[in-house]
Amino acid sequence: MSDLQKKNAGEAAAQYVEAGMVVGLGTGSTAAWFVKALAARNLPDLRCVPTSERTADLARELGLTLSTLEDTPRIDLTVDGADEIGPGLALIKGGGAALLREKLVWEASARCICIADAAKVVPALGTFPLPIEVVAFGHKTTANRIADVLADHDIASPARVREAERGLIRTDGGNLIYDAACKLIAEPTRLASDLKSLTGVVEHGLFLDLTDLAVIGTDEGVYTINP
Ligand code: 5RP
Repeated sequence: MSDLQKKNAGEAAAQYVEAGMVVGLGTGSTAAWFVKALAARNLPDLRCVPTSERTADLARELGLTLSTLEDTPRIDLTVDGADEIGPGLALIKGGGAALLREKLVWEASARCICIADAAKVVPALGTFPLPIEVVAFGHKTTANRIADVLADHDIASPARVREAERGLIRTDGGNLIYDAACKLIAEPTRLASDLKSLTGVVEHGLFLDLTDLAVIGTDEGVYTINP
C-alpha cells in the first residue's frame, strides 16, 4: 500500500472533472486524495454526491458543494477507489464498508473512474475478502445461507462478520458487513447473482461492468487501464 501512489491516482483523476459537472465522490483513502485535488481545482458549478458520511464530511470541510442522489439523480462522473482490480476491470469494493451507497452512485453515473495504487491490480479476484452487506435482523441465518452459496462456488470458509473493538461494524445504512475469504472467485458474475438473490443480503462488493477507466498510481505518476 503506497500513499504516494494513491495520491498520484487521485490527483490525476481530478483532471477528468469539468466545470458544471455532477460528480460522485468515492470513499476511502485513495478517494480522499481525489476529493482534496478536486477541491483544489476550484471548478465552478460543481455538485458532488458523496458515497459515505465520511466523504461528505471531508468534502464539506474543503468547501465542495454537496448534493444527493434525490436532488441530482444523474451523475456525470464518479471517481472511487477499489480493493482489487481484476481482468476486464471487475472490482472488489467495500473495504471501507461503503459498498451500498457506492454502488448506487456508480450505477447512476454516466462514467466511472476507478483509482488505486498499483498493488490493487490482480490477475484474478478473491485474495481480498469479499464484503457482503447484510440486514442486521436475522443476520446469522443469512450468514448460513451465504455459506451455502460460497460452498456452491467451492469457497470453503464461511464469511465472517466485521467487528471492531467497540462491537459489530455498522454501515451508514445501519447494516452489517460479512467478509468472505474467497481466495479465488472463479465465476464473479454467477457469484454476484447468487449472493444478490438471498433475502437479507443488501449488496455485495463485486462491481462488474461498471468501470469505464482505471487510473493506477505508481511512484512516478499514473497509467490507465481500459476494460
Ligand atoms: C470503500 C471502498 C474503498 O474504495 C476501498 O476499500 C479502497 O480503499 P482505499 O482507497 O483506502 O485503499 O470500497 O467501501
